[in-house]
Formats: sequence, C-alpha cells, structure tokens
Amino acid sequence: MSKRLESTRNIWITGAGTGIGEAVSKALIEQGHRLIVTGRRQQPLDALAQLAPDRVTPAPADTTDAERLQALAPELERYGALNMVILNAGTCEYLEIADYDSQIIANNLNTNVVGTARCLDIALPALRRAKAKGEPATLVIVSSSAWWFPFARAEGYGASKAALTYFAHALRADLAAEGIDVVVVSPGFVKTPLTDRNDFPMPFLVSAEDAADRIVKGLARGRNEIAFPKRFTWTLRLLGALPRPIIDRMSAAMARQGNN
Ligand SMILES: NC(=O)c1ccc[n+]([C@@H]2O[C@H](COP(=O)([O-])OP(=O)(O)OC[C@H]3O[C@@H](n4cnc5c(N)ncnc54)[C@H](OP(=O)(O)O)[C@@H]3O)[C@@H](O)[C@H]2O)c1
Repeated sequence: MSKRLESTRNIWITGAGTGIGEAVSKALIEQGHRLIVTGRRQQPLDALAQLAPDRVTPAPADTTDAERLQALAPELERYGALNMVILNAGTCEYLEIADYDSQIIANNLNTNVVGTARCLDIALPALRRAKAKGEPATLVIVSSSAWWFPFARAEGYGASKAALTYFAHALRADLAAEGIDVVVVSPGFVKTPLTDRNDFPMPFLVSAEDAADRIVKGLARGRNEIAFPKRFTWTLRLLGALPRPIIDRMSAAMARQGNN
C-alpha cells in the first residue's frame, strides 16, 4: 500500500462545489485532510467549509482567470506545504452539427485545458516548495475516458480531454526528475449536474460518491492512472483498438441513432 495519501496533509481541489469534486472533497475531509476548495460559486464552497471549519478554506475563483488565480496563490499554503493538487474543474458543451459553432470548441478547451494549465501557474511553485521541504507532492488531473472513442457531438469535449490527458502525461515526464507525481483520472459516466443535462443513455453510470471512492482509493494505492468503471473503460479500450473503418461505421451509426 502506497503512503501517498497517508502522508498528504494539505490539498487544493478545483471544481469542489458539486459533483465529483464535492464527493471527493467530502471523502478527503472525512479522512482528516485539510482542503482549499475552489469553484466560481461561493455558496457550495461555504457548505463544504461548514463540515470542518478549521480544515476547509473556500477559495472562490474562475480557473480561466490568470489574475484571479495569482491573487489566490497565498491561500494554497494557508495550512503549510501544499502536498496535493486535484485539478477537477471542467465543463462539457456539446456541438449541434447542423448549427456548427466554433465557440463550443473554444469553451470546452478554455475551461478544461487552459483553465487547468493556468492553475499550475500557482500550484506548481507550491508543490515544488513542498518537495524542497522533503514533503510529498502530487498533481492529480481529472480528465475523462470520453475521448477514447469518437462520440458524435463531443468534438469539443473529447478534443479538450484528449489534449488534457496529453498535457498531463507530458507533465509526468517533465516532473519525474523532481519527484512530483502526476495522476490522471479518467472516469466514465458519473451522475452529477454536468451529466444530468444529458439527453442520451449513459451506460454504466455511477454515483458521484462511488466515483469519489474509486478516486480516493486509487490515490491511496499510489496509482498514476485511475480509470473507472472498468466495464465501461475496457469496452472503450476494445472498441478503440478496432480498425479505423469499423470505428467510423460504428460511430456514424451511433450518431444517426442519436439524431432520430
Ligand atoms: N460526470 C461525468 O460523467 C464525468 C465523466 C468524465 C469526466 N468528468 C470530469 O469530471 C470533472 C468534474 O465534473 P462533474 O461531472 O463533477 O461536473 P460538475 O458537477 O458540473 O462539476 C464541475 C465543477 O467545476 C466548477 N467549474 C466549472 N468551470 C469552472 C471554472 N471556469 N472555474 C472554476 N470552477 C469551475 C463548477 O463550479 P462553479 O460552476 O461554481 O464554478 C463545478 O463545481 C470535470 O472535469 C469533468 O469533465 C466528468
């Protein structure tokens, strides 16, 4: 069993107010960790802080706003060295192909890729300071398994999560020499406000609490790749390994079905 979570005291988590972020925050609060919680809306962050006022600090910010994030930097070390950063804030906007609008692509990329990258402006120096003190430092990036197969309408979301995963894996290579671990989380469908908007069937949907349990257990075990639920991620892996013409036929058929 890895000591990754055991020796982790102070954690910054984004997108903490709802869904997966909220459930992960609650699980970590229950385990006694100290949290700095970020999202744009103050109220859900305050609700988390009420669970353990001396161990949870709301730090509202839009993660795409570099200036606002800079102002937040001192908060990250309010409890001492920052040992873990969980960059989970994200959005999902679907494209209507009959009404093609590049802004949908830009919105997904801006929140999911640029926003995550901007968080590192302040997170990376803090994690490096933890390392310099001989403390553990882990960066966790919440991506998705959605981009493993070309789903209709997901041009923007899938592209953003493919880019985010590449970003995380390249960071893992760059940060290995410094001993800063980079963990990639790739969930399937999780019931949250984000997916409550979906108007299509979501196979193997799990609850946010179930997702949080798998993420926290994966972190505790020292995993660098956390993908779940297995029935969904293995199906996607197998489909993704088929020859491209078969993938194209399947995804076009799924797109036609969705449009009927
Ligand atoms: N649910 C799924 O099936 C699923 C599957 C795979 C991956 N994921 C990923 O998991 C992560 C969490 O999603 P979720 O399903 O839990 O959805 P969610 O409940 O909508 O959570 C997203 C959170 O991110 C925050 N957020 C969004 N944009 C932000 C910004 N610019 N700055 C700061 N905070 C921002 C939102 O709070 P505010 O609105 O208050 O800012 C919200 O609390 C996302 O990265 C998502 O892509 C979800």
